[in-house]
Amino acid sequence: MLTLTLESSCDETSVAIVRDGRLLLSNAIASQIPVHRRYGGVVPEIASRNHIRDMYPVVEEALEEAGVALGDIEGIGVTSGPGLIGSLLVGVETAKGLAYAIDCPCVGLNHLEGHLTTARLELESTGRPNFPYIGLVVSGGHSDLYVAHEMGDYTKLGSTRDDAAGEAFDKVAKMLGLPYPGGVEIDRLAQAGDPEALDFPRPMWTREHFDFSFAGLKTAVYEHLQERGVPEEDEALADLCASFQQAVVDVLVMKTIEAASRRAIPRVVLSGGVAANSMLREEMHRAAEQRDLGVFVAPPELCTDNAGMLGPIAEHYLNRLETTGFQHPDLQATDTTPLGRRAAE
Ligand code: KG4
Ligand code: ZN
Repeated sequence: MLTLTLESSCDETSVAIVRDGRLLLSNAIASQIPVHRRYGGVVPEIASRNHIRDMYPVVEEALEEAGVALGDIEGIGVTSGPGLIGSLLVGVETAKGLAYAIDCPCVGLNHLEGHLTTARLELESTGRPNFPYIGLVVSGGHSDLYVAHEMGDYTKLGSTRDDAAGEAFDKVAKMLGLPYPGGVEIDRLAQAGDPEALDFPRPMWTREHFDFSFAGLKTAVYEHLQERGVPEEDEALADLCASFQQAVVDVLVMKTIEAASRRAIPRVVLSGGVAANSMLREEMHRAAEQRDLGVFVAPPELCTDNAGMLGPIAEHYLNRLETTGFQHPDLQATDTTPLGRRAAE
């Protein structure tokens, strides 16, 4: 099946063409990062307006790059939640319009399920994990740990009790006067820093449960800055970034590895924007190797928001529709997430 997928839940307008839910033929992305940078974060109204401007050129770019015509598309998948409502509306209405025009089915998809199953794409650089796997989804809005039993069947093991990991990165970056999105900047500056220079807390450092908390860590950085001020020297700034990043990474790695060992599942998958973090990728690989676990993590551009990541779930849900021809998703259904539907065991 040849599918077209659309993602516009936040500030990336993205359209991908995917064959059989695993072969990425194109993945066009128009990023609004430079626009929102001047405000220090995403401004929802501006994001919606830019999605309207960019959506059709991005559709055309994706079709052209894949070398296919709109009429060749057999099914459409679109992020219908969670996300900014104005941004989602642009993607969903575009998807419905295209599906209506070419008389093909269209399904609404869960953004987090897209992140969680990105690794099921066939990528040159990484292997493709079999089920079951432990899936860590770490983004700007979520930090969740799942068992992915198979497509559409997941058990949520834990999630953040307050801020998401990405939010902690972004807020700490803001305190340091770094530009949005902060995770990328902290990652970059931390490369030159000493991760042991400062001793920040590792919140929820327990093997008793799989929940996370990052608000206290954010406060610890805030208090440190109140006391000592924002470092003026490059070296001290790098040390601070590296030490903060190490605290986040330690908790994410420990809990993910612990989940794999408790569940006796031999592979882990990292996803979401924070999975682009170089230290997280390295340390997860190192910890997993010691225990003979497989680690699967897509290249950074497939970790941050993009439509390509929706390929596997688009195929999965389109194949399960009972009728063919034009069908459209209902935004009312965005809260009925298929994630974690299986009761915690
Ligand atoms: O998945 P994503 O693109 O959007 C959401 O669904 O939220 O994730 C965005 C988050 C932001 O908080 C951003 O700072 C973070 O991912 N991020 C990173 C890196 N690249 C993006 N965090 C740490 N290191 C990175 N290299
Ligand atoms: Zn995301």
